[in-house]
Amino acid sequence: MGEQKIQGSHISNTFKLWLVATIFSLTFFHIYALSHYPETDIVSNEILLGVVLILVGYLWVQELRDRYRLQKINTALIKAQGQLQHAEIATISTLVLTEEAKDHYVRGHSKRVTRCALEIAQELGYSEEECRIIERAGILHDIGKIGISDVILHKPDKLNEEEWAAIKKHPRRATEILEPLKFLTKEKEMICHHHERFDGKGYPDGLKNEEIPLGARILAVADTFDAMNSERPYRKPLPEEKTISELRDASGSQLDPLIVKTFLGLLKKKPSLWER
Ligand SMILES: [Fe+2]
Repeated sequence: MGEQKIQGSHISNTFKLWLVATIFSLTFFHIYALSHYPETDIVSNEILLGVVLILVGYLWVQELRDRYRLQKINTALIKAQGQLQHAEIATISTLVLTEEAKDHYVRGHSKRVTRCALEIAQELGYSEEECRIIERAGILHDIGKIGISDVILHKPDKLNEEEWAAIKKHPRRATEILEPLKFLTKEKEMICHHHERFDGKGYPDGLKNEEIPLGARILAVADTFDAMNSERPYRKPLPEEKTISELRDASGSQLDPLIVKTFLGLLKKKPSLWER
């Protein structure tokens, strides 16, 4: 990132005040002289007008230069802030992808969830900025699993109550990990609620229907699809027809029916979404 040198105003505010005071004093002195000594031409009107116009013009030019300089500084700051945020997201995304790469069963999961979620968002007419938010939320959605024991994550048998409680903490844990990244407000909301169910029986808050942020409902469909379409320690990937029928069954109970319908349409149009 290039070094940005921020300079102060070209002329100080005190100097500006002195100039304005001088203009007023000259004008006042001239009016006073005209009214009290009308016969005496102390300073001609033309000279005084010229001096005042030069001073006003000088002030005006300096003001414009200051505004232009401030505008340039603002643009540079916004650009630098964007680059900094991008670097922070890239660092934390690398952490997630590195964690996943170590585990055969979830390798590429976040990327595939992001791909499916982005396709749904685009199909629903999301703007470019909204798609970027979905993309970041998709990559980071399971970051809360960092710290959960591999024994629990890879357990081929049914989880006991305690282990299940540990798993259920991961959406909230994700928002805690991402807490310092203040600019990820919407992403954190989506991540926190990607395991809510449309019927209100999900976690962490038991939100239902439209109470669940739309982005979280999109992530839920993409996440559920990828879970069924991937190998797990306890089973092979489900056959395509089974995955489709499971998605239909979950529509309206676990998942938002509109998003499921949109996604099923996309699976027909874009068979590449099945790629693991
Ligand atoms: Fe999750």
